[in-house]
Amino acid sequence: MEADSNAKAARWLEELGAISDESTQLTRTFLSPALGQAKELVARWMHEGGLEVFEDQAGNLIGRLDCENPEAGTVVCGSHLDTVRNAGKFDGALGVVAGVMAVSEIRRRGLRLPYHLEVVGFSDEEGVRFQTTYLGSRQYTGKLGPAELAARDENSISVSDAIATHRPVFPMPPAGRVPLGYVEVHIEQGPVLENTGVALGVATAIAGQTRARIFLEGKAGHAGTTPMTMRRDALAGAAECVLFIEEQAKADKGIVATVGELRIESAASNVIPGRVSFTLDVRDGDDEKRTNFCTDIIRGMEKMMEMRNLTFRIETVLSAPSVQCSPHLSSVLAERVSTRQASCPYLVSGAGHDAVAMAEITEVALLFVRCREGLSHHPEEYASPEDIALAVEVLTDFLSTFPHHE
Ligand code: HGY
Ligand code: MN
Ligand code: MN
Repeated sequence: MEADSNAKAARWLEELGAISDESTQLTRTFLSPALGQAKELVARWMHEGGLEVFEDQAGNLIGRLDCENPEAGTVVCGSHLDTVRNAGKFDGALGVVAGVMAVSEIRRRGLRLPYHLEVVGFSDEEGVRFQTTYLGSRQYTGKLGPAELAARDENSISVSDAIATHRPVFPMPPAGRVPLGYVEVHIEQGPVLENTGVALGVATAIAGQTRARIFLEGKAGHAGTTPMTMRRDALAGAAECVLFIEEQAKADKGIVATVGELRIESAASNVIPGRVSFTLDVRDGDDEKRTNFCTDIIRGMEKMMEMRNLTFRIETVLSAPSVQCSPHLSSVLAERVSTRQASCPYLVSGAGHDAVAMAEITEVALLFVRCREGLSHHPEEYASPEDIALAVEVLTDFLSTFPHHE
């Protein structure tokens, strides 16, 4: 890629990274005002690249480059435009920017392909607003289920209401599009590529994940007058659970478990917490190991909370199986990478991606880009313009020579 393309991708990511729902940090959530502004900016880039721009009812932004055969299938690329709270500028956005640049470059070259191309900016992958995940890509694939549609945000708005009341800014996409495959460019969000000393790698699989919310109830009381022996402190119970989860995960090679959110109802410094809830996020490449681990720690916590005379309730929000990437597409992608760097590592992704949802309707491949210290879900997340340019080159190459069957 010529130097200005390196600079362009970096500039675009800076511009996109400045659009946030929060003034002091980068946060964009499902159908939020900032997500709308982000889509307007990306839509402008899509139009500049000669793509036709559409938006579906769940706010997924779609840029299309049609081939001459209206009956042809579509090769899809992209990633998500939403972020976690206090996010970095690359998680999700990189895949959308790379897709827009690659498809625009294919159009600029005037390549006449036997398939349509589509780059998608999904409207929600992180699940910050509803604690679900892949809302955008599951709407795109038509796989959103009743449990997900019924999930409610902190203002008690359901997913289905949020989608029904959304007013797309761009025309609805044409119906009946047939996907031939999906490829996602994403920062690795781990340290392997940096430690291996190469810019790009290919994922073989994406770890399965369980997401749940646990509710503990004891009894609120006066911090000054309630003897320690007479307390039913829900926060102390939660603290014991958090350390128990960490200890069990550390003892089990491969499993990762995280408590990322903890809420104290009617919190006050001089009140014993009566009601607390916290989230649980468990990942592993082996689904049976993950589900057994969850069963075991839930049983352990129930017993511990019984000893504390606290009630224990769990709501499982998501149990997504691990997903195998297409060996065929991945080997073709790795070949393209190997023409540009000494070797192409294969990795298992501990992070979830829209490719998980897309794998329900088509073959998927995932191109990883080295990120500094493997850091992600953090404002100092970083991928270099040179590595990004290499990824755009590989994506352009892959999309223009997609191995499809007539
Ligand atoms: O949490 C994840 O795995 C992804 O960043 N949504
Ligand atoms: Mn993420
Ligand atoms: Mn992501």
